[in-house]
Amino acid sequence: MRRPKSGAKGEGTKYKMKEILERLEEKRNQARLGGGQKRIDAQHGRGKLTARERIDLLLDEDSFEEYDMFVEHRCADFGMEDTKFAGDGVVTGSGTINGRLVYVYSQDFTVFGGSLSETHAQKIIKVMDMAMKVGAPVIGLNDSGGARIQEGVAALGGYADVFQKNILASGVVPQISMIMGPCAGGAVYSPAMTDFIFMVEDTSYMFVTGPDVVKTVTNEVVTQEELGGASTHTTKSGVADKAFSNDVEALAQLRRFMDFLPLNNREPAPVRPTFDKPDRIEDSLDSVIPSNPNKPYDMHEVITKMVDEGDFFEIQPNHAGNIIVGMARMDGQTVGIVANQPMVLAGCLDIDSSKKAARFVRFCDCFNIPIVTLVDVPGFLPGTAQEYGGIIKHGAKLLFAYGEATVPKITIITRKAYGGAYDVMASKHLRGDLNYAWPKAEIAVMGAKGAVEILYRKEKDEPEKIAERTKEYEDLFANPFVAAQRGFIDEVIMPHSTRKRVITGLRKLANKHLENPWKKHDNIPL
Ligand code: HXC
Repeated sequence: MRRPKSGAKGEGTKYKMKEILERLEEKRNQARLGGGQKRIDAQHGRGKLTARERIDLLLDEDSFEEYDMFVEHRCADFGMEDTKFAGDGVVTGSGTINGRLVYVYSQDFTVFGGSLSETHAQKIIKVMDMAMKVGAPVIGLNDSGGARIQEGVAALGGYADVFQKNILASGVVPQISMIMGPCAGGAVYSPAMTDFIFMVEDTSYMFVTGPDVVKTVTNEVVTQEELGGASTHTTKSGVADKAFSNDVEALAQLRRFMDFLPLNNREPAPVRPTFDKPDRIEDSLDSVIPSNPNKPYDMHEVITKMVDEGDFFEIQPNHAGNIIVGMARMDGQTVGIVANQPMVLAGCLDIDSSKKAARFVRFCDCFNIPIVTLVDVPGFLPGTAQEYGGIIKHGAKLLFAYGEATVPKITIITRKAYGGAYDVMASKHLRGDLNYAWPKAEIAVMGAKGAVEILYRKEKDEPEKIAERTKEYEDLFANPFVAAQRGFIDEVIMPHSTRKRVITGLRKLANKHLENPWKKHDNIPL
C-alpha cells in the first residue's frame, strides 16, 4: 500500500478526521449530560439514578450499544425550537445481561421530565422492532412525566404507537417494565401491557389520574404514595409484581430475574448448571404436613426445599398471598411454580389469587417454561364479596389458563384438593402430564365435615351418628387412592422424593409436543 508523503493530502485528511472525531466526542459528551448537570444533581437529590447510570448497572460492563443518541424532537411550538436535547429524553439501545442479548430503553427525567414526544416514542419503537426481529427481551426503565405537553396530539399518537407495539410483541419476546419515577395518565398502559411490572419504593408511582383530579372528582384526599406508590400496587391492586428499596437493588434484582427467562417464544427456557443434586432427598418434607388437617404450614418451605439451591424469585409476594407464584430452577432448568398457600385464607382460591396465577401460567406457557404446581386447596372462597366481584369469571381465568397451556405440567397434591379447585389446579383432566399426590392427600368434592352436614342433615342433632358418618367419609375420601384408582393421580409419592420425581418428570417431558386446535385466538374469560 502507498503511504502519503509528508505534507501531502493524507495528513490534512488525518487532521480533519481528528477534528471530526473530537467534535463527535464533544457531541456525545453533551448528549450524555441529558438535561444538564443541575438537573442530574436534582435527580440524584431525589435518590434516583440517571437514565444512563441505570443502564450501566443493568447491563454487563461495556456491553451497551446506544442508538439514536442524536435524535431531537421536531416540535416548534411554545419556544421548543430553541430547547433541544440530544436523545430527546430517552436512552435506547441493546446490550447483554450475563451474556444474553436484551434491548433497553431508559427514560431520562432530566430532559423535559422524561416526557414522551413523537420522536421519543419512535426511539422506543425502534428498539422494540429490533428486539422482535432478533428475538430478545425488551426492558423499559420508566421515569416520565407522561405525554410531552408541548406536543399535544403528536405525543398521544406516540404513546398509542408504543401501545400497539407492546401488543404485537406480547407473547413474542418478554417485555419487562421497571417503574423508577412518575408514570401517570395514559402512560401507565404501556407497562400494563408488558409481562412484568416492577417498582422502586418511595420514588415511583403509577396512576391514571393524580391526587388533584381524584380530589376534584371524588372528593377523596389521597397522597401520591397512597394512590399509586409501590406499596399500593404490590399489595392492594396487584398492578406491580414486586418492589425494591432503591434503584441499585432494583436493577440487580432485574438482572437476576432476566436469567430465568428465555429470550423469546421460540427458545427453550435457559439451563444453568447447578451443584444441587437432581436426586437430592429432602427428608424434612416427610413431616411438613401437620397431623391436624386444619392446621396450616408454609408452602414456601416446600418450594425452597424442592428447587435448585432454594433459589426462588417470587412474583407478587404481597398480593393474594393465598397463592404463591414465581420462577425457580430444577436441574438447572427454569420452571414456573404455582402453589396454594395454606397460611393465607387456608389456601382457598379467590378472585385475586385466580387472576394472579392465571396471568403467571399464561406467561409460562407463552415462553416455554414448564409449570410445577403444588396443590393444597380447600376450594373457592365463599361469600357475597366474591360472588358479586365475579369469582365465576375470575376463577375461570385460571381454569382456562391451565387448560390451554401446552408446556410440561407437573402437579403434586400435598394435602387437600377439594371441589372445583381440584379440577382447576392443573389436574389430569386439564392435561396435567404428571400428577402426583403425597400419601396424606385428600381428593374429594369437599371436606368430610361439610359433606356429612349436607348428606345427613336429618341426623344433625345426633353427634354420635354424625361422628360415625364423618369417619366413614374420611376413610373413603380423605386419601389419594380413589383418584389413583381412576388414573387421575399417576403415582402416590413420598414427600422426601418430590424433587427427584419432578426432575425425572421434567427430563422425560423435555420433548413434549402438544398443539391446540387452530384458531385466530382464544376467548379467555376476561
Ligand atoms: C413536558 C414536562 C412534563 C410533560 C414534566 N415536565 N412533565 N415537560 N411535558 N408532561 C418538565 C417540567 O416542565 C420540568 O422542566 C421538568 O420536566 C421536571 O418537572 P418538575 O415538575 O420540576 O418535577 P417534579 O416536581 O418532580 O414533578 C414531576 C411531575 C410533574 C409530577 C411528573 O412534572 C408533572 O405533574 N408533570 C405533568 C404530568 C402530566 O400531567 N403529564 C401528562 C399526563 S397525560 P424543567 O425545564 O423545569 O426541568 C398523559 C397522557 C398520555 O400522559 C396518554 C396516552 C394515551
